[in-house]
Amino acid sequence: MHDQASLTSFSANEVALSIEFNSGFTSRFHWLWLRENCVCNKCHHPQTWERTVDTFLLDRDIRAKQIEISSSGEMLNLVWPDGHITAYMASWLLQHAYDNHDVNDGLPDAVVWTKESLPEKPSIDAAEVMETEAGVSTLIYQLKEVGFSIVKNLPPEIGMVEKLAQRVGYLRDTHFGIDFTVESKPQPNNVAYTSIELKAHTDLPNLETPPGIQFLHCLLADATGGESLLVDGFAAVQLLCQENPSAYEDLLRIPVNFRFVDKEWDLRWNSPTIRLDQKGRLEEIRYHNALTATRETGFDDMTKLYDGLRAFTQILRRKELELKFKLEPGDVMVFHNRRVLHGRAEFDPNSGSRKLRGCYVDCDQAWSKLRVSQAMNKL
Ligand code: OGA
Ligand code: ZN
Ligand code: ZN
Repeated sequence: MHDQASLTSFSANEVALSIEFNSGFTSRFHWLWLRENCVCNKCHHPQTWERTVDTFLLDRDIRAKQIEISSSGEMLNLVWPDGHITAYMASWLLQHAYDNHDVNDGLPDAVVWTKESLPEKPSIDAAEVMETEAGVSTLIYQLKEVGFSIVKNLPPEIGMVEKLAQRVGYLRDTHFGIDFTVESKPQPNNVAYTSIELKAHTDLPNLETPPGIQFLHCLLADATGGESLLVDGFAAVQLLCQENPSAYEDLLRIPVNFRFVDKEWDLRWNSPTIRLDQKGRLEEIRYHNALTATRETGFDDMTKLYDGLRAFTQILRRKELELKFKLEPGDVMVFHNRRVLHGRAEFDPNSGSRKLRGCYVDCDQAWSKLRVSQAMNKL
């Protein structure tokens, strides 16, 4: 669509240039923005394409002295007071239009789901991801859109999940190591390393940046119980916002104290439960009651925080939101840890073994892979 864009008219005032596209869409662009983003080789380094123009040496009230739309309508040509020339393609301007319009980052938006609304679990065969770039893109697309995927048939051996994760990004090291084994351990430093139920949670909210994408590879699953659980946190937040707007506002605002402590570490971070991006879209959820520290919320907010978290928790635990299934050896549950909450049912360690291998990568690398594969990294 962008490639056919052309310009039909413009009007200028002191603040901005208003441009009409052939679709009828009109968008305003600030003069300083138009000067700063000049696509010439003097304003950006010709090889690295990093910005070389010093934005803050430009006149804050700059305004082009000549404005012209090319005869085909495909270009906007500007001449600045010092004679510098800028030529923009209409398609580029449309893609970057920021006025009353979501800048299109080219990645799929989140499609929220409940157990009922999800026709089937997104899934892909491990060989496709390991051997083809298209497979990697499909997996990342699912992670961006739905927030999870079940990768099937990855040989249930130690070391395989790391290889799969490295198709998506760099392994993220944490206090649990670059990779970890989830099983019932004699001296656990984490509730996941026991056999008890884990209610829906996000991992590592006690870190400044909790890992973006989590991989859990099932190696053994013959113990009774231990079914996995996934809940779309974005769907739960939308319900909270509709049903209890003041609880929603409180969870956006009031920080929760998170902490992981063992003999080696005392890792703490404070953050609200829900965070929005700069456009007001849902960006991140942090929720793990086991990792909440002694709360230091101010007196006036303490009850609001408890009530907000209680309301959110009651939604997260609704049966219609919970997707439950048993992982089989060879399955990898891959999910967006800052959106989709995960958990598991209690299992009986005396009835058989249950063993998962896990690791993390970050979202920025995954989304980057998708852009590069779709050639969206055009300058
Ligand atoms: C974890 C976890 C779930 C499981 O290790 O973070 O939540 O299925 N494990 O054991
Ligand atoms: Zn320039
Ligand atoms: Zn977990």
